[in-house]
Amino acid sequence: MKLSLRDHLVSGKPIMIFDSPSREGEVDLVFYAGAITKSSIYTLRTMAGGLICFATSLEIGNKLGLKLAYEYFREIGLGELVKKPSYGDYPAFSIWVNHKSVKTGISDEDRARTIKALYEVVLLAMKNEEEARGTFLDEFQAPGHVPILLAKRIEERRGHTELSVRLMERLGLPPTAVFAEMLDYGRSMSLEKAKEIASTLGIPLLSGDEILKLFL
Ligand code: 5RP
Ligand code: CA
Ligand code: ZN
Repeated sequence: MKLSLRDHLVSGKPIMIFDSPSREGEVDLVFYAGAITKSSIYTLRTMAGGLICFATSLEIGNKLGLKLAYEYFREIGLGELVKKPSYGDYPAFSIWVNHKSVKTGISDEDRARTIKALYEVVLLAMKNEEEARGTFLDEFQAPGHVPILLAKRIEERRGHTELSVRLMERLGLPPTAVFAEMLDYGRSMSLEKAKEIASTLGIPLLSGDEILKLFL
């Protein structure tokens, strides 16, 4: 029986997202954060190879007291460091955290633990903002080894951050995703190569345009 996209993600299997040829032109390997295990982190490291990030929505980030990193940089007098990349979007990065229970924070097990705890705090923020903020401050330490990315509205920004987080919402899941860029011998993997891998392994590959159609 073929699984729906939602069931596929909830069962812990990844998808691939290609943003757009006019943007990064990259393919990211994407998991639903609610299904992350240490083996998903291993897969992200070995099959994708880019930076492993946890993404949620900007609304949730704000409930936890977070802003985008470029706002912090402007506030502390480092605004000159904030430059738009050639494809035009300010980075979606906020801060980097570890769960307080981890050892170094970088092992597959440690990163999976931090991400699971981030997922739980997002669920809490959806119900009780004040409690979630307290839990976030109490349970995490910064700087750490898991970057938190915050998704703007899909009308405003169409990076992997928005495409994955807003897709999860569209599928009726909490707005959380974990992803890394797919690299190939040190360069961004071509869409053709990603398509070959996706078809061999039965991984759904969605383009930014296909995801955007779900919002029309
Ligand atoms: C973090 C990144 C990646 O490109 C990631 O895909 C998220 O960024 P964006 O939303 O800009 O695509 O910069 O590793
Ligand atoms: Ca990027
Ligand atoms: Zn990207």
